[in-house]
Amino acid sequence: MNTQEQTNQREPIRLLVFTASLRNDSLNTRLAKLATSIVEKNAGKADFANMNEFDCPSYNQDSELTGAVPKGAEQLRNRLLANDAFIIASPEYNASMPGNLKNVIDWVSRFRPQPFNERHALLMSASPSMVGGNRGLWSLRITLEHLGARVFPDMFSLATAHQAFSPEGYLTNTTLAERFESNVVAFMNLVEAAKHYPCIKKAWVEFLGERPDPVTERVE
Ligand SMILES: Cc1cc2nc3c(=O)[nH]c(=O)nc-3n(C[C@H](O)[C@H](O)[C@H](O)COP(=O)(O)O)c2cc1C
Repeated sequence: MNTQEQTNQREPIRLLVFTASLRNDSLNTRLAKLATSIVEKNAGKADFANMNEFDCPSYNQDSELTGAVPKGAEQLRNRLLANDAFIIASPEYNASMPGNLKNVIDWVSRFRPQPFNERHALLMSASPSMVGGNRGLWSLRITLEHLGARVFPDMFSLATAHQAFSPEGYLTNTTLAERFESNVVAFMNLVEAAKHYPCIKKAWVEFLGERPDPVTERVE
């Protein structure tokens, strides 16, 4: 069974894909849209969101105590719960994540059960710089891991992003385009395995001789 046939047999997974930039011509929004199309091409369901759907006033514990949770935080919580995992494309501001992204994460972290806990995440960034915003992702990783998110080891940072896209929104460099797709697909395989085959390796050990379904080989 080849990779395409395996993809066609993927068990259903749903991914929230959101851009953390509010800018109209955002490079990170372009990268998030490209990720959305790759999720759909590889038999996943993508729920695309723009940061303005999650925008919140600055976190204030006094407001929280009066029960005034901003709509943006409720929206992000609901979208996290409605999906199996999430992808964030985030700009790097001053070697860290943007303040508005940290702000909505702080608001959402106050819900119980805490919605980031045990959710799988893939992080990506785009920047005109030579390092592609990668330091911002490391700061984002620390916060999300603190909240119990399972942050995928491979992150994708697109350097010189202002020159990287075709007018149709694809990456013009074929090596980078292949790397981006394989990064997204590897993440999807993990999300599928975590959702549908949580005991698969144990089962292989317990029932020696039972041949695994080729679809489940993705667990490896
Ligand atoms: C306040 C501010 C700080 C920035 N700091 C960095 C930085 O530390 N590293 C970097 O690569 N780019 C930095 N940039 C440039 C952004 O990467 C660039 O504006 C990028 O296009 C923003 O992402 P977007 O296109 O998705 O809005 C900064 C931009 C702003 C406005």
